[in-house]
Amino acid sequence: MPYRLTVIGTGYLGATHAACMAELGFEVLALDVDAAKIKRLQAGELPIHEPGLEEVLRRNLASGRLRFTTSYQEIAEFGDVHFVCVGTPQKKGEYAADVSYLDAVVESLAPYLTRECLVVGKSTVPVGTAQRLAGKLIRLAPAGPQVELAWNPEFLREGFAVQDTLKPDRIVLGVAGIPGEKAEKILREVYEPLGDIPIVVTDYATSELVKTAANAFLATKISFINAMAEVCEASHADVKQLSLALSFDERIGGKFLNAGLGFGGGCLPKDIRAFMARAGELGADQALTFLREVDAINMRRRARMVDLAREVAGGSLYGCTVCVLGAAFKPNSDDIRDSPALDVAVTIGRQGGRVTIYDPVALDNARQAHPELAYGTSAMDAARGANVVLLLTEWPEFVALDPETLGSVVSTRNMVDGRNALDPQSWRAAGWTYRALGRP
Ligand code: UDX
Repeated sequence: MPYRLTVIGTGYLGATHAACMAELGFEVLALDVDAAKIKRLQAGELPIHEPGLEEVLRRNLASGRLRFTTSYQEIAEFGDVHFVCVGTPQKKGEYAADVSYLDAVVESLAPYLTRECLVVGKSTVPVGTAQRLAGKLIRLAPAGPQVELAWNPEFLREGFAVQDTLKPDRIVLGVAGIPGEKAEKILREVYEPLGDIPIVVTDYATSELVKTAANAFLATKISFINAMAEVCEASHADVKQLSLALSFDERIGGKFLNAGLGFGGGCLPKDIRAFMARAGELGADQALTFLREVDAINMRRRARMVDLAREVAGGSLYGCTVCVLGAAFKPNSDDIRDSPALDVAVTIGRQGGRVTIYDPVALDNARQAHPELAYGTSAMDAARGANVVLLLTEWPEFVALDPETLGSVVSTRNMVDGRNALDPQSWRAAGWTYRALGRP
């Protein structure tokens, strides 16, 4: 392989990128400032739940192609291409994204860059960040303009991280005008082993916007169908059938058209907020006011879920025994960042409900964040004696639950399906009161 790669930041994105680039045959050195995390990764232990990733990690550690470090000097000496994969979380009490981790990376790495190399940003950033960081990089690096910056946003989904990295829908490369030719050539070579993937080469600003626009579109699509769910609730229509009928129109398509508890996670909610904040700074806030509504519709679904639980419980949640199935923001993930399921569980707990939660992989994370709630050892365990069962994350094992078996342990057969994941007929046939968001 012509280049040696480094990856800076080993969260969901960085750990996946490092392991997958090694899988393609590159020598990869990955860095994180968290020494404990690096120790675990070097031992082949993944700090997150991501199907298939641990195997890729271990295989490439064993082959010697993948290594981990905490030393910026080491990665600067090792790498020809440095991928920056650090987080850009929402600022506390504000909509804007906090890009300070990116600045810290540039400040730590640049002083060691004494030869020609390429730095590639993969993080989701407010438009304009790449241009600013490029200037800073050249100013701080001893190699000066021999150090180039490119922006290469990442579109991977949690739960499908390996698959999305090795077979992305498209590759977007943001480069700096004419000097960007070298960056484009290098990145085309790096991604060549992926095969025939569409590549869009553009300027920094457009590449940054592709990512935020994609997430804004996905969030809007989910909130659109959830807005329809509100209308369905008011008119006794069925949003599930509405969504199915819409999906046959190829211009609309069925993906991201599942009505339910709405979106959460570490990306969509904070990305649409950061996008609005940045548009405001640029004087283009009017263009994105609709995202305020997208966000509001999304948050209203959580409130509606609590109301529905209260209704089913007979008018009050106080003292009611509530089983919550799901804590992760979506199935196949242990991520509880901005999880709609946990949000609902916490609210019901505050209203006096006796909540017991079960999730196949996110329990430890949930327990750490909310020690005040109770946790079960299985779905059946969490449902014991429940007056109401809430399905809030559509894990396959919950969808496969047998209404009779679950019914044998609950106190009252009340099911509220927050993800429209169950078959109402079979639950009703087993004597359950079945309610769902957006359905009669
Ligand atoms: C998202 C983007 O999909 C990805 O491209 C980007 O890189 C990061 O953000 P992710 O956060 O992993 O990925 O999850 P995603 O699968 O997009 O789901 C986001 C949320 O939307 C979840 O809470 C999910 O439950 C919800 N969702 C999704 C719906 O409520 N309805 C749908 O139809 C689809």
